[in-house]
Amino acid sequence: MSTGERVPQQRIEVGILGATGMVGQQFICQLAGHPWFKPAWLAASERSEGKAYEDAAAWHLDTPPSEEVRRMKVNACTPGKGPRLIFSALDASVAKDLEPAFAAAGHIVISNTRTARMDPAVPLVIPEINPDHLALIPRQRRERGWSGAIVTNPNCSTVVLAMALGPLRQFGLRSVMVTTMQAVSGAGYPGVPSLDILGNVIPSISGEEEKIESETQKILGSYAENAVTAHPVVVSAQTTRVPVINGHTESVAVALDSKPSPQEVIEALRTFSGKPQALGLPSAPAAPIDVSAAPDRPQPRLDAGKGGGMTVTVGRVRPCPLFGTKFIAMGHNTIRGAAGAAVLNAELMLADGWVD
Ligand SMILES: NC(=O)c1ccc[n+]([C@@H]2O[C@H](COP(=O)([O-])OP(=O)(O)OC[C@H]3O[C@@H](n4cnc5c(N)ncnc54)[C@H](OP(=O)(O)O)[C@@H]3O)[C@@H](O)[C@H]2O)c1
Repeated sequence: MSTGERVPQQRIEVGILGATGMVGQQFICQLAGHPWFKPAWLAASERSEGKAYEDAAAWHLDTPPSEEVRRMKVNACTPGKGPRLIFSALDASVAKDLEPAFAAAGHIVISNTRTARMDPAVPLVIPEINPDHLALIPRQRRERGWSGAIVTNPNCSTVVLAMALGPLRQFGLRSVMVTTMQAVSGAGYPGVPSLDILGNVIPSISGEEEKIESETQKILGSYAENAVTAHPVVVSAQTTRVPVINGHTESVAVALDSKPSPQEVIEALRTFSGKPQALGLPSAPAAPIDVSAAPDRPQPRLDAGKGGGMTVTVGRVRPCPLFGTKFIAMGHNTIRGAAGAAVLNAELMLADGWVD
């Protein structure tokens, strides 16, 4: 299978809502030189409206934006303005009303925000795990009367867990205990005060545990007849914020019905590949999951950038006396956990004919 005739002849213009924030900046990076998409319209709050992008965005990434992007004017988030395909990195408080308004105005909104993820008519997609859930789009259009659509990607810690659990569904997922060690970039900018986080661990991230527990069940669930049935796996999550810049690390213990050996689990993870790899989508990493044999990996500083930030690294796969299997998983929170995930969703939608 390949993307074949659906590869666009020229780059499609796209817009970014919340273009000035942490995730918005990562969108600018992911789309720089992208073969299919070209950022043509940037929008943010009234604090940024009318300013040149370089004046509105406090840039935090290693690679600076292009001269063209630096000079682009930041617009107001006005539905109906901007291209048909829109990436959203809006603050959740405003996304709740703005994203549906954009979908109603005919935009296809690929969203990073939590507000629509658990809506039964909205696909919550990791292209390697549940690409078939995009089939919810016609239901959404029928029920809401939208000519556009909303498609979401998961919370940044959910995506790391769901990527690692997806290949283990064949063994019968029963229950999961996960503790996260989440990077500060996950809290946006300015995020957590330095006096709180330096030399410290904060054992609470508001709303995060509930998101991991419910989103994982939806992503791993099955699609049939215009609905997703949640996977029955029971997930118990504890979340912590740690003084790491990028990369969420997760300590995972999982009970699997068929009780596979650690070697069988490693084999399932190592050989895992999905639709993005089969289609050769531009942002698809060659290996969606890299299994490390080293006793001290994954580490966010060494492994978060693997596969352009799109590969999840799993290490220390071993027996667990309580659950059966345990391991450490780690992924880049603003790339695989946000902007890169949304761009991969858009590529899949284009390849599958959801974007005209
Ligand atoms: N950071 C991560 O790792 C991560 C991962 C997954 C999902 N997310 C989600 O992605 C979204 C963005 O996160 P972030 O970390 O990039 O946050 P952020 O750095 O705080 O950026 C928020 C963006 O929203 C814009 N905004 C705020 N209020 C607005 C308003 N009233 N009208 C229009 N635009 C408004 C801001 O524009 P101004 O600059 O003009 O204020 C900024 O562009 C959030 O929903 C977050 O939960 C984040």
